[in-house]
This record gives sequence, structure tokens and C-alpha cells, in this order.
Amino acid sequence: MERRTFIKNSSLAAIGTGIGLWSCKGNKFNLVPVPENEKIRIGVVGIGARGTDILRVLSKVAEFKVVAICDVLDFRIENAKNHIGNEIKIYSDYRKLLDEKILDAIVISTPLHEHYPIAIDALDAGLHIMCEKALTHTLEQAESLYAKALQSTKLFQVSYQYQLNPTFNLIRELIEKGHCGKITRIEGVWNRNSNWRREPPSPELERQVNWRLYNAYSAGLMAELGSHQLNLIDTIAGSHPLKIMGTGGIDYWKDGRETFDNVYALFDYPGGIKASFSSNLANEYEGFTMKFKGDKATIVTSFMDEAFIYPEKDTDMNWDENTDGVTGASIKIIDKTRRREISGKKSDKTIYPFDTHYFNTTWLLYKNFAAAINGKEKLLLGLKDGFRSALSVHLANSAIAGANVVYWPEQYSVL
Ligand SMILES: NC(=O)c1ccc[n+]([C@@H]2O[C@H](COP(=O)([O-])OP(=O)(O)OC[C@H]3O[C@@H](n4cnc5c(N)ncnc54)[C@H](O)[C@@H]3O)[C@@H](O)[C@H]2O)c1
Repeated sequence: MERRTFIKNSSLAAIGTGIGLWSCKGNKFNLVPVPENEKIRIGVVGIGARGTDILRVLSKVAEFKVVAICDVLDFRIENAKNHIGNEIKIYSDYRKLLDEKILDAIVISTPLHEHYPIAIDALDAGLHIMCEKALTHTLEQAESLYAKALQSTKLFQVSYQYQLNPTFNLIRELIEKGHCGKITRIEGVWNRNSNWRREPPSPELERQVNWRLYNAYSAGLMAELGSHQLNLIDTIAGSHPLKIMGTGGIDYWKDGRETFDNVYALFDYPGGIKASFSSNLANEYEGFTMKFKGDKATIVTSFMDEAFIYPEKDTDMNWDENTDGVTGASIKIIDKTRRREISGKKSDKTIYPFDTHYFNTTWLLYKNFAAAINGKEKLLLGLKDGFRSALSVHLANSAIAGANVVYWPEQYSVL
């Protein structure tokens, strides 16, 4: 497929979203200082790959002051020292950190099986929580944590930062405005040609470093990759799925792993939307791709960095060399097919600190978290959102494991 971009990531070409925040190409990001006594004291528990990225992001969110980090692996602490100042306290046991009562908020970026105990203890400690996805390792943990967190007066955010991606928000607006017509299919894939392994510094650390491959710590591809897309699909569908089917297996990487390397699940949403998510570690064709299919047009996006719209043959979209009044998306024919390139409107309201959507969307997530803690904004993604995606992950895994049909639990039908 011709690689023309509809939304260009590299230049941070900006597209208006519901939250009205935008970048300005060519301008430099400036950190607006926040007085020391007004900063939110935050600690990061789990400073592996994601935790280290979060430390980088937090260095550009002046509302937060990172006062502590915690990890059980020494080599991770050593590595993290490159990203933190000398005054930051270092812990190997998160309970000791909580006992010292030096935090207002906590980030949980540990392997999945540790999210639950840390989140429960952090709720008891009265902290605001930013928990990495997926919310929990098991469905029962998700139910118990959700019930407890609902009782807290503090904020609970699950890190689904793709929701803040400008490409996704433009897609959402275009769909809401009816440009795709009635959506009946949403297809998501996230494929890699990779064993998903990391080289441990010593053999005895195999399970701790490669936790994603073992059932005691991980909920596999559905949790690690699928939950992001399921979260986006819920937003477009405006609901959770009602019925889930699935299949999967260890079909290629027969190397002692326990989590499946090839999964496929189907989701029935209300309103006649059938969705699918599949992930394969033995073929990376299409990488991260989502397709939103309606009776007027299909939108196809790749890694949320670019997307195209393909009108159905009888659709008169009035979009030939046109600009959509609400989204600001300008559409022009780019070749002899019916494919259209769309560019987003620009505004100078926000200047992003990083070069990639991955970091900038995480930055937006933390900016919003800070503003919500300070009572200035509502949380863009709340506890309910994270709980709903966790249920989808665990129900899909249950359908895959049992090769059966699984139904959304009635008691959560109002989510
Ligand atoms: N939102 C995203 O885009 C995104 C991206 C990557 C990872 N993640 C999520 O972030 C989490 C971590 O993933 P990762 O790739 O960084 O894993 P990782 O293995 O690189 O890092 C996890 C760290 O947590 C530490 N840890 C384990 N138990 C701990 C405990 N009890 N107390 C303190 N530290 C502990 C480990 O030693 C390790 O350093 C996972 O939930 C993953 O799904 C999210």
C-alpha cells in the first residue's frame, strides 16, 4: 500500500480533538514552572521499560515532583539513576515507601501480577493512583479492586494513553459525525515477528525479566497489546462487548513459554457492531492496524500515526478537496482509487515536549492526571474505563482458553 500519510506523526502535525490541545510545529516546548509547595509528590513503582519512559515524561510535567522510585531489581535501579536527581529516595519494597507517607500519588508500572496488591495498599494509603494497563492479572482481582477503588475519594487512572492520540481522536470525531455511516465492523490487529523475549542479565532472572511469557505474572497478548485496542473499540462502540469468542495457541515459539503467541478473539457489541482483535508473534504484516467499517466508508489506521479513509462506491462524501467544518480535517483525493488523504487542522494551543506520539500521549495523560488532582479538569479516563477493558481482556482469555462463548457479566452491564 502506498505510504502516503493522512496524519503525519513526524512533524507532529496536529489534529483538533475533543480536549482541544495542540502542538505547534517549529516552536520549542517550555516547561512552565510550578512553585515547589504546590507540586504533587509522586513515586514510581516498577522502573523497567515503561517506568523509565514514565520518568522521562514526568520530567516534563512540572506539576509533579518525583520523590521516590521503587524496584525489586538492582540493575533496574542502577539504570534509572540516569533519569533521576540525587534527592530522589530509592526503595526495593513498595510497602516501606508507603509507610513513609511521602507521596500524594503513585505510579504502578510493575508486571501485571503486582498491580493488584500494590494498588490495594496504595488505596489504603490514601494515594491518587496511575496504574499501568491492564488493570489486574485476573478477573476476580479486577472486580475486587474496582469495588474498593469506588469507595476512595482519590483518583484512579489506568494508562490507556492511545485514547489521547490525535489520529484516534480525529477518527472518533469523523465517525461520530457520520462520515463512515453505520459502523458494523471494527477490526484490530497488533502483530510482531518477534519472540517477545528480553535478554536477562543473568539466567536466574529469566522469569522476572520475561514475565510476559509466564501465566503466573501475565495475561498474555490480550492484556499486553489487545487491551489498548479493546479500550479504543469500547470508545467508538460507546459500550463494552456483550459476547466474546476466541481461539489461540503457542503455535510458533515453542521455547518453554506459557502465554499464547497467536490469539484471535471476536466481540459482539450492542448496535450490531462485530469487532475482532488478533495478535500474532510469527508474522508482523499490518503491525498495529485498526479498521473501522461503516456503510459509507472505512477508516484504516496504522500505529495511530497515519490513517486513510476509503469511501464506499456509492458514497458521495462531498469530500473532494474539501475541509470538514467541525473536525477541521481536510480531505483530498490522492490517487485513482477512492482512497482519501486527510490532514488535521492546526492550532497553536499546545506545544508538545517529545517527538513521538507514544511519549506525547503519555505526557497528555499525566498532564490531565495532575490537573484532575488539582481540581482543574476531570479525569479523561477513569477507573470505570480501565475496569471495563480489564474485563474484556479476562473474558477474552477465558473464551480463548475454553474455546467457548463468554458473556459479559450482567452485574456490570451498566458500565
Ligand atoms: N501504556 C503503555 O503503552 C505500556 C507500554 C509498556 C508497558 N506497559 C505496562 O507497564 C507495566 C510494566 O511493563 P514493562 O515493560 O515496563 O515491564 P518491565 O519488566 O520492563 O518492568 C517492570 C519492573 O517492575 C519491577 N517490579 C516487579 N515487581 C515489583 C515490585 N513488587 N515492586 C517494585 N518493582 C517491581 C521489575 O523488577 C521491573 O523492573 C506492565 O503492566 C505493562 O503492561 C504499558
